[in-house]
Amino acid sequence: MPLVYRALLADRAEGRVTEVVLHDVDAARLGAIARVLDEQAAGVPAAPAVRVTTDLDEALRGADFVFSAIRVGGLEGRAADERVALAEGVLGQETVGAGGIAYGLRTVPVAVDIARRVARLAPDAWVINFTNPAGLVTEAMSRHIGDRAIGICDSPVGLGRRVARLLGAEPRGAWLDYVGLNHLGWLRGLQVDGADLLPRLLADRDLLESFEEGKLFGADWLQSLGAIPNEYLHYYYFNREAVAAYRGAERTRGAFLHDQQARFYEEMRNPEAAAFKTWDATRAEREATYMEHSREAAGAGERAPEDMESGGYEQVALALMRAIARDERATLILNVRNRTTLAELDADAVIEVPCLVDASGPHPATVTPLPGHATGLVCAVKAVEREVLAAAESGSRATAVKAFALHPLVDSVSVARRLMDGYARAHPGLAYLT
Ligand code: G6P
Ligand code: MN
Repeated sequence: MPLVYRALLADRAEGRVTEVVLHDVDAARLGAIARVLDEQAAGVPAAPAVRVTTDLDEALRGADFVFSAIRVGGLEGRAADERVALAEGVLGQETVGAGGIAYGLRTVPVAVDIARRVARLAPDAWVINFTNPAGLVTEAMSRHIGDRAIGICDSPVGLGRRVARLLGAEPRGAWLDYVGLNHLGWLRGLQVDGADLLPRLLADRDLLESFEEGKLFGADWLQSLGAIPNEYLHYYYFNREAVAAYRGAERTRGAFLHDQQARFYEEMRNPEAAAFKTWDATRAEREATYMEHSREAAGAGERAPEDMESGGYEQVALALMRAIARDERATLILNVRNRTTLAELDADAVIEVPCLVDASGPHPATVTPLPGHATGLVCAVKAVEREVLAAAESGSRATAVKAFALHPLVDSVSVARRLMDGYARAHPGLAYLT
């Protein structure tokens, strides 16, 4: 939220955002973040007004844009998502594999409730979904508010920017031939003035191993693929190493963030605390440790500073809002309904794809068809997402087990059953599954 608010503060253009309403179910947390924003706004003329409320309906009424970023079960829940899976020897991660399924099963019913309220109280609003697992959650919301549900992620933009810079191109002027699901996509081309620059990168081993994704996957594998995968595909292509690194770690990502966030809110209880400074320090620490186990498993070493640079989420969200509100055409990689983009998926399946955005919303662009191995993964994971959505709707535990069992990173139906039992014990929020 502070990153988004900073981007709003820098926006001086006509038709900019004038009011921000913050909603949280936890009043203390709401107060702490309001203090951070208040410090950010100090001395900025015509800063957007900030109102806070613990009443969701009050926050939604009359909104033009709704940013939805929730964490059902809190960071404690995220840590349990990771722990239960790792105890079974399979990947425990926020969005990928068993951890992502457990998180999805908890989150979908809550996201659907929000979408229903939006449909009632702010029927013309566009919902920008930040909540992970972002593709699945966006699809759940789209069943109630259609194409007004748009999911965002900063990983494809980050990948595109890194590759464009390596090739000496201006990231804004480059067209990214990227498609897949959220955290499951491939960059197959990068066009500047009609010429594809990616083959030059794929042919140069040293250049390939000089940036984040190249270090993670290694030049050989990238050359075999003929594409640059989203960094989250490391969990698939190097699953064994990733699971081993996570199991060997002192703390999971969720446990780290849980402790860090608890410290932040504890410090915020001190009325003298410099709110923005405290928040910013936690952000820097969070970003420095992002995907640390994967990088360790790959021997990728420290992150380069340019790989850590932000300008992700908040820039995508602001550009998206601008394009819609001011009818300024923009091209952004978003999570939207497929329509006819990927022939193997139905029209309502939410995918991650470059979109042309204007006042009428995002329209998926034409991309090069995916090769068979990528289509296979996309279809398998979409089928799992559909089982999660079905389980959330019906409350059927057997359907939830089916979701776990069909996932390519869960290697046995008996493991899936034990995962379901473990998650049911860990999460009161899964009691609806019977
Ligand atoms: C990246 C991912 C997001 C994720 C974020 C924070 O930007 O694309 O999906 O939410 O990192 O990850 P963290 O592990 O710090 O919560
Ligand atoms: Mn993401």
